[in-house]
Amino acid sequence: MKVTVFGIGYVGLVQAAVLAEVGHDVLCIDVDEKKVENLKKGNIPIFEPGLTPLVMSNYESGRLKFSTNAEEGVNHGVMQFIAVGTPPDEDGSADLKYVTAVARTIAQHMNDHKVVIDKSTVPVGTADRVRAVMTETLQKRDANIAFDVVSNPEFLKEGAAVNDCMRPERIVVGTDNDEVVELLRELYEPFNRNHDRMILMDIRSAELTKYAANCMLATKISFMNEISNLAERLGADVEKVRQGIGSDSRIGYHFIYPGCGYGGSCFPKDVQALIRTAESIGYTPRLLQAVEDVNDSQKNKLPTFIKRHFGDDLRGKTFALWGLAFKPNTDDMREASSRVLMETLWEAGATVQAFDPEAMDEAQRIYGHRNDLKLMGTKEAALQGADGLVICTEWQNFRAPDFDVIKSALKEPVIFDGRNLYDPERISKRGFKYYAIGRGA
Ligand code: UGA
Repeated sequence: MKVTVFGIGYVGLVQAAVLAEVGHDVLCIDVDEKKVENLKKGNIPIFEPGLTPLVMSNYESGRLKFSTNAEEGVNHGVMQFIAVGTPPDEDGSADLKYVTAVARTIAQHMNDHKVVIDKSTVPVGTADRVRAVMTETLQKRDANIAFDVVSNPEFLKEGAAVNDCMRPERIVVGTDNDEVVELLRELYEPFNRNHDRMILMDIRSAELTKYAANCMLATKISFMNEISNLAERLGADVEKVRQGIGSDSRIGYHFIYPGCGYGGSCFPKDVQALIRTAESIGYTPRLLQAVEDVNDSQKNKLPTFIKRHFGDDLRGKTFALWGLAFKPNTDDMREASSRVLMETLWEAGATVQAFDPEAMDEAQRIYGHRNDLKLMGTKEAALQGADGLVICTEWQNFRAPDFDVIKSALKEPVIFDGRNLYDPERISKRGFKYYAIGRGA
């Protein structure tokens, strides 16, 4: 099938590459000329396991193409994906200007029936807006061309995006037209073979499903972080509690890991956007507000431990930081807890020596101007002469470090662990003071 994808961001690029891989003819359109040129040369703008070879092989085979020519894009596919960003505007609502701009572009250039598929995370009611913008644009052209708008949210996780897209747990399709369902079945058939993963519903329910899923996951994390704060004060170990409750299949083990707060481009933004949506219709979303509050304070957990240990004035202190990305297997630092940590330490006068296996360029891009951040080539180099070690991301190669090396490199054997990587008993036997999340520090 011929498919056009507007927006070569995370969602657009992965979806396009995966659709091309199964044989569809995919043209990606983006306004960013540099990005398009880079992609043609094989320079993929994001770090995502498995993505580069997938993009390259499909580009070389001609099934995956990149262009800035929107008109060419509109003419190419019956299916027109909108996968552009929906960044938060000043009050946290999702800003739909890029989505509506694509809708307008499609309506300006289309000459025959199109199925417009909202892939971006968009508030309930966006499909109606897309439809209205397109109708208005077509009227201005005096063109009477039929089109459909479908909500088909994406549920991929950064770091596992290719696999999530190749083997989706569900394909949510919101539409009011049964004929469109057949087209989507054909499009997704290669991903939907062994058992039917397509969940059909009305458009508004599909739009809300995306937010509800992310907000539910964020709620699980904030709930667990709240329990970790209680565990800490009650002399319990949250890791034991986690195992104890996760074994109940109704609760499950996923997304109940306490930590130094959730980050990334999705949870913080989507929780906030759903809060704004609720408020805009006069509903006070108390639970979602609490989820956000708990997360904000959780990001201050490590700085609080550090100040408890060293005092509020951190001038002259240096901290080794392992992990800058908001989670492992990505170079993404959006809303990462490492940023709150570093900014608080800098404000208190400290210097940070940081290492991350993938996010060094990103850190350089964001904080390259600061002389109180030193980006170090290895995790061992980050330790040299530091007053303590802080861990913000659970990269695999932080899990079993040489503790003797850590001890001899640090001025004082103290670890502030935002991801509960080590066994508290074993680590204190090695002579470390160990601050972890919800483990009686
Ligand atoms: C999230 C969802 O998991 C995806 O299903 C969704 O499609 C995506 O948002 C999106 O809307 O595009 P992502 O932001 O890539 O995916 O990352 P997650 O793996 O969900 O992690 C988010 C944050 O939660 C990370 O900072 C992670 O460290 C934190 N987390 C996760 C915890 O603190 N505890 C946990 O138990 C799990």
